[in-house]
Amino acid sequence: MPDPHPLWLPAAATAHLRGRTVRIAGDGPLIDTVRAEAAAAGMTPAGDDAELSIAVTTGAASSAESFTLTRDGARAIAECADDAGALHAWFEIVRLGPGAFAPASTRTVAPAHALRMLDHWDNVDVHPVMGQVERGYAGGSIFFHDGALRQDLSRVAAYARALAAIGINRVAINNVNVHVREARLLTDDLADVARIADVFRPWGIRLHLSVSFSSPMLLGGLGTADPADAGVQSWWAEAADRVYAAIPDFGGFVVKADSEGQPGPFAYGRDHADGANLLARALAPHGGVVHWRAFVYDHRQDWRDRSTDRARAAHDHFSPLDGRFDDNVIVQVKYGPMDFQVREPVSPVFFAMPHTRLALELQVTQEYTGHQRHAVYLGPQWREILDFRGRGDDQPTLAQTVRGGIAAVANVGDDRFWTGHPLAQANLYAYGRLAWDSTLDAGDVLDEWIRLTFGDDAAVHSGIHEILDDSWATYEAHTAPLGVGFMVTPGTHYGPAVDGYEYSPWGTYHFADRDGIGVDRSAATGTGFAGQYPEPWASRYESAGTTPDELLLFFHHVPYTHRLHSGDTVIQHIYDTHFAGAERVAEKLAAWGELEGCIDPAVFARGRELFAEQLRSAREWRDQINTYFLRKSGIADEAGRPIHP
Ligand code: GCU
Repeated sequence: MPDPHPLWLPAAATAHLRGRTVRIAGDGPLIDTVRAEAAAAGMTPAGDDAELSIAVTTGAASSAESFTLTRDGARAIAECADDAGALHAWFEIVRLGPGAFAPASTRTVAPAHALRMLDHWDNVDVHPVMGQVERGYAGGSIFFHDGALRQDLSRVAAYARALAAIGINRVAINNVNVHVREARLLTDDLADVARIADVFRPWGIRLHLSVSFSSPMLLGGLGTADPADAGVQSWWAEAADRVYAAIPDFGGFVVKADSEGQPGPFAYGRDHADGANLLARALAPHGGVVHWRAFVYDHRQDWRDRSTDRARAAHDHFSPLDGRFDDNVIVQVKYGPMDFQVREPVSPVFFAMPHTRLALELQVTQEYTGHQRHAVYLGPQWREILDFRGRGDDQPTLAQTVRGGIAAVANVGDDRFWTGHPLAQANLYAYGRLAWDSTLDAGDVLDEWIRLTFGDDAAVHSGIHEILDDSWATYEAHTAPLGVGFMVTPGTHYGPAVDGYEYSPWGTYHFADRDGIGVDRSAATGTGFAGQYPEPWASRYESAGTTPDELLLFFHHVPYTHRLHSGDTVIQHIYDTHFAGAERVAEKLAAWGELEGCIDPAVFARGRELFAEQLRSAREWRDQINTYFLRKSGIADEAGRPIHP
């Protein structure tokens, strides 16, 4: 087996530090990590006159994990709030490259969110349908193999280092769908979990576990999991005590309850606050948190029933509970009301629960964005989500208002390049950087990743930048139009199937007929979802005339001849974007070809294989979507391009 790819930390990334002097003051496991990093980078320990100095300065009025970096042209001095701050300062110095020591400046750097988390959907046992990693597109799990913890955790150590370098400080190691085997991580397998926590600890990362709400029954032999039952309460308290005895810095539990078949409090006539507080009270004495997911909806819907709207579900279930959750509960909300589509409105739940700690949930793994076979850089999507001003154009952004941090579904596996498509590494990098600093520009973060990963060659840099920069927009162009979503192959979620989810129980419909398409979610004539937003968005989404084009079909059912703000009709927009999107993918394939001989041949070869598949798939999307709508509407493409009526 060749060594795994070094991600954004190849030896060249620390070349600017080689031979320089360093002074690292203090003690503790994270300080030891920084010392070892400096030694590995070829730095020499020195006294007060060192070129790089990193010290924890106690008593400074600075927030956890922060540091102040002063550069004077020749030297860099990092004064850090704590040992985690020292670790982040070190990686800032690495990231700055040759510019680490100049120009003269002083800057304080602090994380935007205290909790910056990755959620692995890894199974211990290979699941018969979902495999070793649910929605994983990068091989097996780096933690588990065929029913057991891996003996060799060196991959996990390399991963932890790469995550520390981008500011991640929490990792949940197992799937939110907790099957019987995985439930045992909480009890029988604690020694295994502790081994993984030991690997993450030197990198400032705390471990979390997804747990089953039915654990007291599954693992404890109780007859109930009712939150009001005293036996259940003490079972959880004792379970938490045992976890903390094994892992003193354990982060907490992640829970998917009453969702897609997972057990939850509804079975006992209790609500989500009762359920979440049960677990929170077990963790509270130890300082742990519960991430309780708001992804709750009816997945056994009747498509004939037009009154039920999946988009409404999270808000309907959770907003009445605002104020009832304990302080160490974090309600984790997917960015949109449906399920990680390429385009959705930001979930209205974020603006309905001011007395609850909410976390934003993103998806780094490309479930609905091409399975890490398509090169799709999600930074621009996350930028838009983080910037959404739900309460008005002069009000704070989503990034400024979430108090429970950010979580995202991870995208790595035991693949040689970690992420299947080597360019999918950019998403993991960008996620960490945006969780740390939610004001960063997506294009700048992309440039940072390219420079660290591929070096300084200008042609390589501009080639990769050009491929990725508009790749999210390209993917949106050739898949489901104008925010309507889905139209993917059921089950796998790869490739087009326009009616694949149209008559299914999942609540994912586009309602295309001969006259028009889209879902009426207005309050006046539709499902009322638009009314879940505060003003001004409730009014904006209420009418087709004020809904942004890219979300038109999410909120409204309109005729194919409806004119967008862009001036195009809906039908012509569908044809134009699908032709242009597939064409753009062909250009990306050509741009990748230009990189031959300029980048690692193994990376190039993997990319070439995948770009061919991306182009095939994009053309299939184009042809199926265009043909479907030509057949439905009977309206020809104004440009007379080839469609298949
Ligand atoms: C999606 C995904 C599932 C996953 C679920 C979740 O529906 O397809 O595999 O379990 O999200 O977020 O819980």
